[in-house]
Amino acid sequence: MVFAHKIVWITDLHQTVSGQVEGVNSRGRLEQVIEQINRDHPDALCCVASGDLCDKGDIEEYQALARTVGALTVPFVPMIGNHDSRDNLLAALPPVDPLAGYYQFRVDLAGGLTLLCLDTHLPGSDAGQMDQARLDWLADQLRQTVDRRVLVFAHHPPGPLGLGLLDDMPLLDHEPFVALLAAAPQVEHLCCGHVHRPVSGVIGGVPFTTLRSIAHQTRPPQSLRTWDDFVATDERPQYGVILIGADRVVIQSIDIESPV
Ligand SMILES: [Fe+2]
Repeated sequence: MVFAHKIVWITDLHQTVSGQVEGVNSRGRLEQVIEQINRDHPDALCCVASGDLCDKGDIEEYQALARTVGALTVPFVPMIGNHDSRDNLLAALPPVDPLAGYYQFRVDLAGGLTLLCLDTHLPGSDAGQMDQARLDWLADQLRQTVDRRVLVFAHHPPGPLGLGLLDDMPLLDHEPFVALLAAAPQVEHLCCGHVHRPVSGVIGGVPFTTLRSIAHQTRPPQSLRTWDDFVATDERPQYGVILIGADRVVIQSIDIESPV
């Protein structure tokens, strides 16, 4: 068998109490993707959600999210994004052994695989941050995982991707973060959210991928002049399937069938 392990990946769920956001049914779409994951990927080691779990970060939104993801048959690994509240997320869905004061943690899986799930949240800003405490934790984890295979998940991509206005809310001071990853050969891929667009490439020697949101999508690059003009595009949400083989990591992006 070429691929021994599988991880499912979703991002930017933007759950609300009403179930609606930016003119789309974000709860219904999350329910649809959960149905498809349960049906097609029951063998996945887990389902990672790379931030913007909720739209405003109210505790009621996390309660609604928890009810919806309760239907998932594989383990759920939630992460923090710029739309989330760190305090409310820590209270509602506490991770195992996080970096103190942050929603940043490590998950060890079968096959010598480790996920490093980073907290790029910067309170009061849509931009992201990896401050010294978070970078130190990452450096320490990379020292501990030299004999493992590592996938890194972070809500904010490390730097501009050529996406117009979306580039105005980047991971600030991303160079030391990228340098840490680039110097760690066990890091095989960086998976990010935030941009609600499918993008892949290499930054500073680190290969990365982003996905469409589970909720609303952003316009293609350049056509969005100001956020006042924002209208969600009529594109299907998607989820990622990460396949891990002895000599490869493959990421498939799969559109949700007939989104509500
Ligand atoms: Fe988002």
